[in-house]
Amino acid sequence: MSTSVGYQPPAVAVAGALPKRPVQSSVLIVPVVSGDDGNGATVVGNPYLDAEATGEIEVALRALGAKGGNEQLTRVVVPALPVSSVLAVGLGKSRDEWSAETIRRAAGAAARSLSGVENVFTTLSDLDLEAAIEGLLLGAYRFTEFRSAKTAPTDAGIRKVTALTPDTRSATKDAAARAEAIAVAVATARDFVNTPPSHLFPAEFAERAKTLGEQAGLEVKILDEKALARDGYGGIIGVGKGSSRPPRLVRLAHRGGGRKGKKVALVGKGITFDTGGISIKPAANMHHMTSDMGGAAAVIATVVLAARQKLPIDVVAYVPMAENMPSSTAQRPGDVLTQYGGITVEVLNTDAEGRLVLADAIVRACEDNPDYLIETSTLTGAQTVALGSRTPGVMGSDEFRDRVAEISQEVGENAWAMPLPEELKDDLKSTVADLANVSGSRFAGMLVAGTYLREFVADGVEWAHIDIAAPAYNSGGPWGYTPKGGTGVPTRTMFAVLEDIAANG
Ligand code: BES
Ligand code: MN
Ligand code: ZN
Repeated sequence: MSTSVGYQPPAVAVAGALPKRPVQSSVLIVPVVSGDDGNGATVVGNPYLDAEATGEIEVALRALGAKGGNEQLTRVVVPALPVSSVLAVGLGKSRDEWSAETIRRAAGAAARSLSGVENVFTTLSDLDLEAAIEGLLLGAYRFTEFRSAKTAPTDAGIRKVTALTPDTRSATKDAAARAEAIAVAVATARDFVNTPPSHLFPAEFAERAKTLGEQAGLEVKILDEKALARDGYGGIIGVGKGSSRPPRLVRLAHRGGGRKGKKVALVGKGITFDTGGISIKPAANMHHMTSDMGGAAAVIATVVLAARQKLPIDVVAYVPMAENMPSSTAQRPGDVLTQYGGITVEVLNTDAEGRLVLADAIVRACEDNPDYLIETSTLTGAQTVALGSRTPGVMGSDEFRDRVAEISQEVGENAWAMPLPEELKDDLKSTVADLANVSGSRFAGMLVAGTYLREFVADGVEWAHIDIAAPAYNSGGPWGYTPKGGTGVPTRTMFAVLEDIAANG
């Protein structure tokens, strides 16, 4: 099967001024604020526009009743400018209320609203260049691979983004390149999530990860079902055995640290489709389970990004991939399996499959003696009950968990620290095996899953588990720079944590 090209983000440039000559099919995105009375629609960050052009934009905005409220979009035509139109995007009242995330979301909302526009210029970059570019590229994302000519968009999408800035020197270019690299990685994760389970099954997913990894200079190894059975990966085999499409474990290694640098392990849940197995899920919304490899998608995108950005640390990713299906070869509720490393588990519910494949991968990852381990997974519906659709839950070693949560909030993915209360371990007692894979209680489902995983993390490894059950996949309407479908969360969190470890240990 062919390896798809996926989404191609727009090219990025920085410039000190708008072009002199008119540019075909173009838009200038300008930020506006509403001022203290909330009625302003005043253009900000505009050393590139003369007073006349600014005045024309503001007159037009007022005539249209634009208020500059957060992410409010207003399109106006300004004949004096070399662009086809101007798109004003609101940033709220005033500068005091902006964060990088405000700029990112405004840029994303603006980019999403554009169709039939090839060239985007923006002065949002005058406020925060990196956030503006990141938001534009994330918002410009589209997934069209499975559309025939009948419904495919008739335009090519945004082809080029030019960020206006008074400073076009190399530091600025580096910031632009970094934003672009991050947006490409997020798009990779989104593409994987959006690729339907008919086309993305374990063997195919593993091959795509390999192609991508090798192109980025990673060392890639795939264990197939025979190797997995031979080496004792009972969790991955148990979950995968109900499907005619056998499981895989992919290892992707970035060697950037030499002997002294820190070593980080990444683990991501790669269930290419989760029917629940014999403990089958209800039909309503079962199709959302196409996103059950969102953790794997983000982990692959992150390790590839680490290699492309040449991070001076070692990053080794382990990605277990399986399809959870009911069949006569599927595991049964009540079966006992042996996780990699020897812990036995009574599988009381075959729908709690994520922790089974992850436990194997975590034990294997710890054999490499990492300093840190970040694992992420669409693990529990309970994440959504506790934190809603946009807030990942992060559990693990207290200090590292808090560091991951804090960094996640800085990048706008907003993971929130959650505890792993000691007493929950009792809920995972089994009458026949070392552990049961589910608790008998309805309470704290997200934390129980984290408690299960904790049993498999080697002593001395600082670890964090990020539950992205809902945040990986937007089943509601698009917002900010987040489209419907795959979101790419938590790629930006994990990459920022890797950068932080590379800088501070
Ligand atoms: N993949 C699901 C979790 C999930 C639910 C992700 C909703 C995204 C949206 C996971 O494998 C699962 O089925 N978890 C069970 C665990 C339960 C059986 C203890 C759940 O949350 O219901
Ligand atoms: Mn499940
Ligand atoms: Zn699942």
